[in-house]
This record gives sequence, C-alpha cells and structure tokens, in this order.
Amino acid sequence: MNNIIEAKKIIKEYNIGKGNVQQILKGIDLSIQQGEFISVMGASGSGKSTLLHNISGMDKLTSGTIKFSGKMLSNMSEEELSKLRLKNMGFIFQQSNLLKNLNIFDNIILSAYLSKEESRHTINERATRLMEKMNILEIKDKDITQVSGGQLQRASICRALINKPKILFGDEPTGALNSKLTNEVMDILIDINQLGTTIMLVTHDAKVASKTERVLFMSDGLIIGEIKLDKFNNNNLKERENKLISWLSELSF
Ligand SMILES: Nc1ncnc2c1ncn2[C@@H]1O[C@H](COP(=O)(O)OP(=O)(O)O)[C@@H](O)[C@H]1O
Ligand SMILES: [Mg+2]
Repeated sequence: MNNIIEAKKIIKEYNIGKGNVQQILKGIDLSIQQGEFISVMGASGSGKSTLLHNISGMDKLTSGTIKFSGKMLSNMSEEELSKLRLKNMGFIFQQSNLLKNLNIFDNIILSAYLSKEESRHTINERATRLMEKMNILEIKDKDITQVSGGQLQRASICRALINKPKILFGDEPTGALNSKLTNEVMDILIDINQLGTTIMLVTHDAKVASKTERVLFMSDGLIIGEIKLDKFNNNNLKERENKLISWLSELSF
C-alpha cells in the first residue's frame, strides 16, 4: 500500500509562559493512503487544526516524524518545505483567503505563476477549465467582494487545485456555508477525489464526514477512534450517515 502521509508519534507543544508548556498533539500516529478521502472530527480545541498544520509541514513539530511520499519533512529547510507544499499540497479553509487586491482569476493562477514551472498560457488554460468545471467562469474578472460565499469557496478550491496537488487539505471548508452550498462543495470534493487527489478534511459536520471514506475522531490531542465507511455512492448516503452517527454516539468523550 502506498502512503502519501506517514506521521509517527507526533507531538506539538506550545510555550504558554513562565516555563510552562501545553501539549496540543500528544503522540499521534497517522498514515494516509494515496487516493484516500479522510476526515477528522472532534470537539473544538481537540487539536484538529493543529494536526492539519503539522502534517502538512505548515507548522513545526515538537517531536516525531512525518513523511510525505517517503520524504522526511523534518529534515527539510523552510525553503524546501514551502516548495514541496506549493507543488504538492492544496489548502482550503473556512474563510476564503483570496487576496482583496486581485480579481478572482488572478487569485487562482497566482501560485502557479510563482512556481514558474509552466508557461502562463498552460496555467491560464488550466485555470479556465477549473473555473468552468466549478461553474464560476463568469466571475473571473470580479473582485472577491463582488461574489457570493459559495462562489468564493469554489474559487478557493480552484486556487488550491491550480498546481495539481497530490493532496488537498481542508480545515472546515464548509463551515461558513449553508447546507445546499455544503452539498455542492462536497460533490466537487468527491469528484476531485475520484479523479485521484487525496483529500483530508477537518469538519465537525457529520453529514460532511459521512461523505468521506474514513473518519478519525480526536479528543484532547489524540486520535481516539476511527471508522471506515464504504466507497461513496449516491445510494448509500443515508446508510453511511447513520453508521457514522451511531459510531459517534458510542465514543466516550
Ligand atoms: N499558537 C498557539 N499557541 C498556544 N496554543 C495554541 C496555539 N494554537 C492552538 N493552540 C491551542 O491548541 C488547542 C487545539 O487547537 P486547534 O488545533 O485549533 O483545535 P481544533 O481545530 O480542534 O478546534 C487549543 O487549546 C488551542 O488554544
Ligand atoms: Mg480548528
């Protein structure tokens, strides 16, 4: 089996003053397989965002090891890490972090231009195709203040995908959306996953998690349980949701 992420005994501590440290991740082992669609649930403050920041190399671990496609992140310089992230990882968040002073199209292509690996023509073509697929081509020249929340989140997904990442990380990407828009975004993510991109989502919405293949549950800096759901199809949604909800209600936390 091919693991895209292999995290071993990861610990993250913060100095909280007066020589005291607070341990936020308490020794987590986590492997994510190439092509998997995985989600992480857990109460607010349990360490979900910290886990995502650390396994993606955005943040530095206190101890433990993380391999991305077999490469050890902890041995890399900041520069190597940011290159690796730019080329291989995409990120989406609850609030879109598109830039205010660029139009939507320029926001989407920016990181691809920065990585200087392809011609601008190739990048522009891919951005146009992505926007078409997400049904937002008509907003390409607009400012981020001129579009709806659902359009903005789809633009953020285009931006995250512009460098054809191997893995897409989402931290509560549907957290600010109503249930109709949440479903739309999840349909898009399912498509992206089915085309081969590995996805890891943090969410506290069981409906969202029930559309992924494996759900982890975090409590107080540890993964205290996980459940595998069947491959997604539109006919087994209710069943998956029920299975997940009954599992969640059995976890003691
Ligand atoms: N930079 C930081 N310094 C100190 N404590 C932090 C920092 N970032 C997060 N924490 C703490 O880590 C814990 C877990 O936070 P987080 O990973 O954001 O949880 P979640 O995403 O599950 O809500 C919280 O108690 C939070 O206050
Ligand atoms: Mg969080």
